[in-house]
Amino acid sequence: MSSRRPFVSANFALTADGKISTRTGAPAQFSSPEDKRRLLEIRAQADAVLVGHGTVATDRMTMGMPDAALRAERIARGQAEFPVRAIVSGRGRIDPNLRVFSAPGGPIHLFTTSRLARARRLDFERRGTRVHVLPEPLEMSAIVARLQAEEGIRSLVCEGGAQLFRALVEADLLDELHLTWCATVFGGVQAPGLLGPASHQMKTSHAFRLVGFEPGGAGEVFLRYRRISRPSAAAAARTSPAAARGR
Ligand SMILES: NC(=O)c1ccc[n+]([C@@H]2O[C@H](COP(=O)([O-])OP(=O)(O)OC[C@H]3O[C@@H](n4cnc5c(N)ncnc54)[C@H](OP(=O)(O)O)[C@@H]3O)[C@@H](O)[C@H]2O)c1
Repeated sequence: MSSRRPFVSANFALTADGKISTRTGAPAQFSSPEDKRRLLEIRAQADAVLVGHGTVATDRMTMGMPDAALRAERIARGQAEFPVRAIVSGRGRIDPNLRVFSAPGGPIHLFTTSRLARARRLDFERRGTRVHVLPEPLEMSAIVARLQAEEGIRSLVCEGGAQLFRALVEADLLDELHLTWCATVFGGVQAPGLLGPASHQMKTSHAFRLVGFEPGGAGEVFLRYRRISRPSAAAAARTSPAAARGR
């Protein structure tokens, strides 16, 4: 297996005032059908999709691949039919009856800590979920490494939410960022932006360069950014899944 870590991307829809959700954390429904389609296309390129407990519960995600044509393209590219589904829940108080645990899709990996109750762990395992109990605080690099070791993934897309995205950025693991800039505004200091509520400042800034720009539906713009590597990290320059497959 390659010693290179997997390529890590993230994908979010943002309002024109930089919000990913409302103050009450309503499900992310403000983007167009074109954006929903693009989300699936980006997901289809990845070997795994990574989501935090908040998002999988609020948005009732299944993290699957409902489009048969995209599944066929995955198989033609040599990928598994469905992406691996990875969920992060530090406290482990996650409901085994959430849609994702019964919906069709790739293997499910739950990354949690010893705070997950034993009975619930056994319940998840009985239902076929692979449970990883890791030390606290959860390290994003350990999660990515587990997925690489156990599922052989070469690429992963994080589809939210803010807390998980922030952890990936702070661990300096994010290689690519897809944003859909939407022509709507919510306002409200409590409504989360990409990194959560406005008061949560990062210790250091992380720079990206724009590598893709195209109009979407309903006045939206699809943006794609690449991480600008620090000089010390230049040797670890990453290759996107598409480039790795010669596309
Ligand atoms: N606009 C968009 O594109 C978009 C995309 C995704 C989500 N959203 C919105 O974002 C909101 C959810 O945001 P959120 O910040 O709550 O989302 P989140 O990161 O999905 O969920 C937070 C929860 O996930 C677990 N978690 C995440 N990162 C962790 C870490 N580093 N270590 C340990 N546990 C971790 C924790 O679960 P436990 O509590 O179980 O420990 C935490 O409480 C929803 O309103 C959703 O609709 C919008």
